[in-house]
Amino acid sequence: MYIGGIEIKGKVVLAPMAGVTSLAYREFMKPFGVGLSYSEMISDCGIAFGNRRTYEYLETSEIDRPVGLQIFGYSADIAEKAIAIIEKEATYDILDVNLGCPVYKVTKTGSGSSWLRKEEELEEYIRRIVAASHKPVTAKIRLGWDEDSINVFSVAERLQRAGVAAIGIHCRTKAQGYAGKANYEAIRGLKSKISVPLIVSGDIFSAQDAKTAVEITGADMVMVARGGLGHPCLVTQINALLEDGVVLPDPTLEQQVEYAKRFANMLIDLRGETVAIKELRGLIPHFFAGFPGYKATRNQIATRTNSKNDLFLTLNGILS
Ligand SMILES: Cc1cc2nc3c(=O)[nH]c(=O)nc-3n(C[C@H](O)[C@H](O)[C@H](O)COP(=O)(O)O)c2cc1C
Repeated sequence: MYIGGIEIKGKVVLAPMAGVTSLAYREFMKPFGVGLSYSEMISDCGIAFGNRRTYEYLETSEIDRPVGLQIFGYSADIAEKAIAIIEKEATYDILDVNLGCPVYKVTKTGSGSSWLRKEEELEEYIRRIVAASHKPVTAKIRLGWDEDSINVFSVAERLQRAGVAAIGIHCRTKAQGYAGKANYEAIRGLKSKISVPLIVSGDIFSAQDAKTAVEITGADMVMVARGGLGHPCLVTQINALLEDGVVLPDPTLEQQVEYAKRFANMLIDLRGETVAIKELRGLIPHFFAGFPGYKATRNQIATRTNSKNDLFLTLNGILS
């Protein structure tokens, strides 16, 4: 499949996740069959006004590509400034616009999902971003602000008119946050109304979930978000089922230990041990969530891991 002329292999897009989809996470997930990865959301204000810490989110690598950098903001003027800087500073393939973040700190400024409540302004905002960007622009939305204002069809059509190269849809409303079930039915039939690729997101926790989501929505690709945490093989399993109709087995405990170590090393290399360990406490327990009898181990990692040594002792202990 192609998004704005960029070739995307396979059926899986790695969803943008703030606090998770660092360069290390994206590089770790890539070989499992990720066709396109997105960065964590990046404040266009942070970029436009020279916040050095925001610039760290712009880091990509060859392994990482094709990769989309996701921005969020409330003003086309600021977005234009940020895009000019990003184009100078970063190597990337796609620019994505976050129109779905439900967090109050973000929506109160008019960013994220609050755009879904001002469709006309949104269309103009995206038109200006598309005009400013030399890379294809994609957008990620939700079904609407809340149950009573589901407007995903008209928003998607406006985004397409404004020139986006693909649309990602998290099949929940803003009001749902991350709770409740993703509602794929809400976008049934949308695919035939738009000509750009459609990427479906929400509750993709198994290859069968991906198949169901694609069957209902006709989406070209699925986004793996929480389901991929500690379960990188999900990406391989989805590609195998969607492309070849093959059901692959789940990984063994030994494989999961190996993956956890590999990811830990990659994040430590990127961030340094002190910062990485704090993130790893949250992420590594996911690798053992599917294995009964490892609750204490997961707790140990989450609450009593202060160094790489602590972490690797625990991981090695799993197999002894
Ligand atoms: C911890 C976390 C951080 C997220 N950060 C972002 C983000 O930065 N940008 C974005 O568009 N979506 C973000 N999302 C939403 C995901 O990309 C995805 O659409 C959502 O989690 C639904 O998929 P799931 O139910 O399979 O997890 C985030 C989700 C989670 C759980």
